[in-house]
Amino acid sequence: MDHLREEYDGELDPALVNPEAPLELLKAWIYDAEQAGLGDPTAMCLATLGPDGAPRSRMVLCKGVDGTAVRFFTNLTSDKAEQLHADARASLTFWWSDMDRSTRLTGRVTPLERDEIEAYFASRPRSSQIGAWVSDQSSPIEDRDALEAKHAEVHARFHDADVPCPPHWGGFRFHAHEVEYWAGRPARLHDRIRLTQRDGTWTKARLQP
Ligand SMILES: Cc1cc2nc3c(=O)[nH]c(=O)nc-3n(C[C@H](O)[C@H](O)[C@H](O)COP(=O)(O)O)c2cc1C
Repeated sequence: MDHLREEYDGELDPALVNPEAPLELLKAWIYDAEQAGLGDPTAMCLATLGPDGAPRSRMVLCKGVDGTAVRFFTNLTSDKAEQLHADARASLTFWWSDMDRSTRLTGRVTPLERDEIEAYFASRPRSSQIGAWVSDQSSPIEDRDALEAKHAEVHARFHDADVPCPPHWGGFRFHAHEVEYWAGRPARLHDRIRLTQRDGTWTKARLQP
């Protein structure tokens, strides 16, 4: 892999990193990535703490940025959800490779309210709604055939009826207290600007690459 060397040519205008609205630039970067046709512009890596205190990470999709919060949805009996119920501390990282941009957030989660979960679930494609009933996310299953059999059973159970939101399906609101914007620049002199919240006030600092 040593032959792989990327020359970055990104851009980060410090004036756009606003302590009064810390996630405005995140919203703009997601929008830019969508406009540029990047795949999964809302994909983000979510890191949690496992029961042994070791970090665990996986990709999830951002489903809204509001104020200093980011929401995402998942199975509430999954490993990640159990970890977040035990320890609300988490971190999120976005990476838009073709734009040489990344954003990293540190914070804590709170569970979403049931009415918000159900409203979002109702907006999902039917295939995703059925999938939510099929999967006991993060639990072992003997093979692919067993999964397909569960899918066929759930499909038959709902026929043409509306698919209700499973009680085990939900989501979290991640509240950021630290946000770092990164833009790759030539010669590894990347731009990094961090916003940190303490006692309700956000402060801004440029970090060395
Ligand atoms: C691009 C991408 C987006 C994903 N989005 C979600 C998501 O929004 N919610 C989710 O529960 N899993 C999502 N997944 C699957 C998770 O990465 C993961 O496999 C699953 O949630 C189980 O994680 P856990 O065992 O740590 O709970 C996504 C995977 C990828 C690659």
